[in-house]
Amino acid sequence: MERNCLAIILAAGESTRMKSAMTKVLHPVAGRPMVAHVVDALAGASILNVALVVGRDAEAVSAAASTGEATVTSFLQKERLGTAHAVLAAREAIAKGYDDVLVVFGDTPLITAAPLKAARDGLAAGNDVVVIGFQAADPTGYGRLIVEDGTLVAIREHKDATEEERRITYCNGGLMAIDGRRALDLLDRIGNANAKGEYYLTDLVEIVRSLGGRAIAVEAPEEELTGCNTRAELAYIERLWQQRRRHEMMLAGVSMIAPETVFLSWDTELAQDVLVEPNVVFGPGVRVESGAIIHAFSYVEGAHVGAGATVGPFARLRPGADLGPKSKIGNFCEVKKAEIGAGAKVNHLTYIGDAFVGAGSNIGAGTITCNYDGVNKHLTRIGANAFVGSNSSLVAPVTIGDGALVASGSVITDDVPADAVAFGRARQEIKPGRAPVLRERYEAEKAAKKKVKAAD
Ligand code: UD1
Ligand code: CA
Repeated sequence: MERNCLAIILAAGESTRMKSAMTKVLHPVAGRPMVAHVVDALAGASILNVALVVGRDAEAVSAAASTGEATVTSFLQKERLGTAHAVLAAREAIAKGYDDVLVVFGDTPLITAAPLKAARDGLAAGNDVVVIGFQAADPTGYGRLIVEDGTLVAIREHKDATEEERRITYCNGGLMAIDGRRALDLLDRIGNANAKGEYYLTDLVEIVRSLGGRAIAVEAPEEELTGCNTRAELAYIERLWQQRRRHEMMLAGVSMIAPETVFLSWDTELAQDVLVEPNVVFGPGVRVESGAIIHAFSYVEGAHVGAGATVGPFARLRPGADLGPKSKIGNFCEVKKAEIGAGAKVNHLTYIGDAFVGAGSNIGAGTITCNYDGVNKHLTRIGANAFVGSNSSLVAPVTIGDGALVASGSVITDDVPADAVAFGRARQEIKPGRAPVLRERYEAEKAAKKKVKAAD
């Protein structure tokens, strides 16, 4: 029989050290609140029953954690009396009766499914408490794992540890699995006689042993258990997340010339044989199809890039940009809420917003879709195989038919039928022989000015 599981995410911290108007677990990693990453990792281990313990910014934290398939129920911890006290805020959920109760922290967003599974395997093997530990490069501040003959004897918080215990580098990662049938009984026995006067979840280890039960520790990579307390640690976690994701993508067939300069969002999708040049930033909601190239210094968010399309260098794709296969968005172009047809070219210094550009059309340098009248946004529709000359302003709402040609420098305010040519600018005039006359006049003006200056 498969064992069922309740996960309890502790996210009621004050986050004092973040020095922020917003509680810690709402701060984003890869564009997504930390706590949502934790919920995701749980879902990756098929744990969909989640109790969330909230304090500060309770509503926003609950909303951020309600993601994917998980059923998240929030519990308010009114006073902050320690990690065991926080777990007991979810008493009602634990009391429903689960085989496994898994406690995780909302501020360890790099956790993956593997240690979560390992902790549950430890319970299935007959242990009463399983703690996920790691070898700390610097153990200062962490609870130390005291292991004897393969069993976990105690966890000693840094503040309560002796000199000798402080030399231990095997540390508590904060992830703990508890036999769900005994969890409430064990948790209720925890007191607060320690250096901080808090109810420590870690006391569970000694309690369960004193009752004849068994606790073990299972090691996981330090990276996965990296916690966030300050903005500096937030930046460090972001770096680790980015490294991990870029690596996964490259192994899946994405080319990155200078991966350390590419920034991804939590949901960025890059298909096989996509090439990403240096210094590219992906905001949320991007999907890039096979063979597309994102040239250097481009900023892409909320966009779909079709197969074999090219973007940049120095392009900006904003939400709703939808590029057809083999289309081209060149340097210093911005595309927003616009469909660009297959093979269409928007190569230089152009803004396309609230628009449809048909397949095979060519949009000349400096073209602007004037989509906003100061109050409302309007659509520009450009048919297939149209040609829009450089430096044209297309004043929306306006339609340019299939195969139409717009003369360079036009301000287009009326629809252009298919295959028509539209001029929307003053006609050029020629005055033969007039240049020398003008030049002579200008020279005279210059000389007059000099005279006045000299007299001053
Ligand atoms: C805790 C562990 C320590 C471990 C370390 C790993 C205990 C007593 N100590 O210490 O052994 O090495 O994590 O990072 O468990 N929280 C609440 N309500 C509270 C107290 C805490 O929700 O009343 C939440 C915090 O928001 C945080 C988590 O619980 O997400 C851990 O609390 P924190 O105070 O950061 O524990 P540490 O001192 O880091
Ligand atoms: Ca902590």
